[in-house]
Formats: sequence, C-alpha cells, structure tokens
Amino acid sequence: MDPTLWTRVDEFLEARLVRGDEALQAAARASAAAGLPDIAVTPTQGKLLQLLAQLSGARRILEIGSLGGFSTIWLARGLETGGHVISLELDPGHAAVARANLEHAGLAQCVTVRVGAALDTLAALATERAGPFDLVFIDADKGRMADYVEWAVRLGRTGTLIIVDNVVRAGDVLEARSADEAIVGTRRAFDVVAAHPRLSATAIQTVGRKGHDGWLVARIIAPGAPA
Ligand code: SAH
Ligand code: DHB
Ligand code: MG
Repeated sequence: MDPTLWTRVDEFLEARLVRGDEALQAAARASAAAGLPDIAVTPTQGKLLQLLAQLSGARRILEIGSLGGFSTIWLARGLETGGHVISLELDPGHAAVARANLEHAGLAQCVTVRVGAALDTLAALATERAGPFDLVFIDADKGRMADYVEWAVRLGRTGTLIIVDNVVRAGDVLEARSADEAIVGTRRAFDVVAAHPRLSATAIQTVGRKGHDGWLVARIIAPGAPA
C-alpha cells in the first residue's frame, strides 16, 4: 500500500488521457480559493463520468452533491445536445461557487444547481415530474446514501445508470459496528441495493490521489427481470 505511488500513477494517467483544460483547472482553483474541501472527484473519475454519460446517451442527469461543480462539469460535457443536468446542493456557498465555475466553463445553460437539503429537493423534483433521469450520480452526505439510492430509482426508469461515490472508504465499509453515520449509511445503502428488486449492481474498489475508495454502479432493471 503506497498512496504516493497511487498519486504518481494518477498523474501518469492524467498526463496521457485526461489533460484538464482551462475551465476544469479554473474550477479547481476557484473551489480551493473559496475554501471548499478538496474532495471533488479526481480527473480520471471525472472523465469516466463523462464517458458513462455519453455511453448512456444521457439527456437528463441528476447529481446529488455539487460542491464546486467539478464533477458537474464532467457530467454536463457528457450530455447529449439539448440535455440538462440538475445538481442538488445543501450549502448555498458551495452552490454559488459551482454556478460560477459552470458559467466559466460555458455550461450555465445546461445545468441547474438547486439549493436545499437533497431529501427536500428530490421530493420537489418528483412533484414537478422532472424525471425520468437517465443517469444519477450520488455524492452528498453519506449517512443518507440509502435514501438517495431509493430516490434515484423513483426518479429513474428501466435502464437508468446510478453511480455512488465513496462506498469503500479505505475499507471502513467493513466496520459492521461503526458508530460513524457515514459508514452506517454506506452499509445500509449496500443492503438496500442488494435487496432492491429493480437494481442490478456491482461495486469497484479504486486507488488514486484520493486514496482507497470505490464506486457502486447500478442499473435499474425492468420489473420482474433477473438482476
Ligand atoms: N460531486 C462533487 C463533490 C461533492 S462533495 C465533485 O465531485 O465535484 C459533497 C457535497 O454534498 C458537499 O458540497 C455538501 O455540501 C453536499 N451535501 C451535504 N449534505 C447534503 C444534503 N443533505 N443535500 C444536498 N447536498 C448535501
Ligand atoms: C468526503 C466526501 C466525498 O464525497 C469524497 O469523495 C471524499 C471525502 C468527505 O466528506 O470526507
Ligand atoms: Mg465523493
């Protein structure tokens, strides 16, 4: 286990495959300058979000947890022409940074950042019949991860891709007796996904500049279909 090696490999991959452009670099700089925590997806993860959005032909993308809009930029770049991202963020300061970064990236027209507790804004989206979303990226408070998965299914359709960040946490997910609400919530999310009749899923461990973590990747399946 050598985190400095993981970071050097990420740098190698970024230099060859994910050369960040000015808008992404500016977004990272502005987020740091505004004092946001350094927890955005990495460039290789962001590029994977863009590729998965493109592979899904996504026209409607839902993100839970905008922070400074770094992952949001990648998702929006993966949209089909005329598509839209709705990104949900609790903290108005984070949302303001995200909106400025999206504007600078030329993506203001195809992204809406909605401020509020996601459980409230998700309920509002359901009332407004804003779905169905083609892709949902869950990356907010980990204690409510299971609720967000259930909302993603409600706001999705058969074939919707659901991606959940931070499901391994350096192996802390194994701590069955943890009192940490993030770990309790993550373990509950695995239970919900495992038992859900409309989800087929896997999870992949990752290492890189953010250490050892992982993504859960799920697809909404037709009622009665085998997982
Ligand atoms: N997806 C971002 C990182 C998100 S960090 C990226 O990769 O660039 C998690 C974000 O979730 C933080 O901005 C935090 O303010 C937000 N958050 C925390 N609790 C929330 C809640 N209840 N509803 C909506 N957003 C929440
Ligand atoms: C944290 C949150 C994240 O979404 C992440 O990717 C890494 C760390 C955190 O709250 O510590
Ligand atoms: Mg995350």
